Amino acid sequence: MKPYKLPALPFAYNALEPTIDEMTMKVHHDEHHRGYVDKLNDALEPYPDLQKRVEELLASLHTLPVDLKDDVANNAGGHANHSLYWTILTPRSQRGPSGELGSAIASKFGSFEKFQSQFTECAAQHFSNGWAWLASDAHGALSVFATKDHESPISRALTPLLVLDVWEHAYYLKHQNRRAEYIKGFWKIVNWKEVGKRWEDVRTKGATNREWKMTG
Ligand SMILES: [Fe+2]
Repeated sequence: MKPYKLPALPFAYNALEPTIDEMTMKVHHDEHHRGYVDKLNDALEPYPDLQKRVEELLASLHTLPVDLKDDVANNAGGHANHSLYWTILTPRSQRGPSGELGSAIASKFGSFEKFQSQFTECAAQHFSNGWAWLASDAHGALSVFATKDHESPISRALTPLLVLDVWEHAYYLKHQNRRAEYIKGFWKIVNWKEVGKRWEDVRTKGATNREWKMTG
């Protein structure tokens, strides 16, 4: 049995329209994400001892054999990042973060709107393929940054809370080169309840290298 599996989407393919159209979602989930899962299974097939949870793999990339490291970084990262991305999207978005997460964001960035513009600029300015993140360290310090390719914050000992895929495959069919339009739409489909749960875990448990229910 293959250790890594493609998780089902938590919504219908067309549920996030008009921000993310049905065709993009099908290709993104069924082809791109599946590709990372398949390649991760292939890469680790000869190494049963290394078939750990993707979070553990990403937290310990430096311990992997040199000829395996890039393959695992790309495909475990691709698998983990997409699995997380699906969970923080929803057709029933709330207006913004509430409770403890809302307070933490306002305290760190000045206001939700200021956080939103910083995240938007980070996602819009990121050169080439990658991801924009809101992440926390083990002590609850929040930060916004982008990573290249499929690098995960987990490899930096940070816990991802919110993520936006800015690879062209995430938006090009619908928005072509208008990444700003895709980012604007993203704010209407964020699952703040899920992001809030992730923050609650960090706040109460603090750990970063643990299961985040994003591996499917
Ligand atoms: Fe993607």
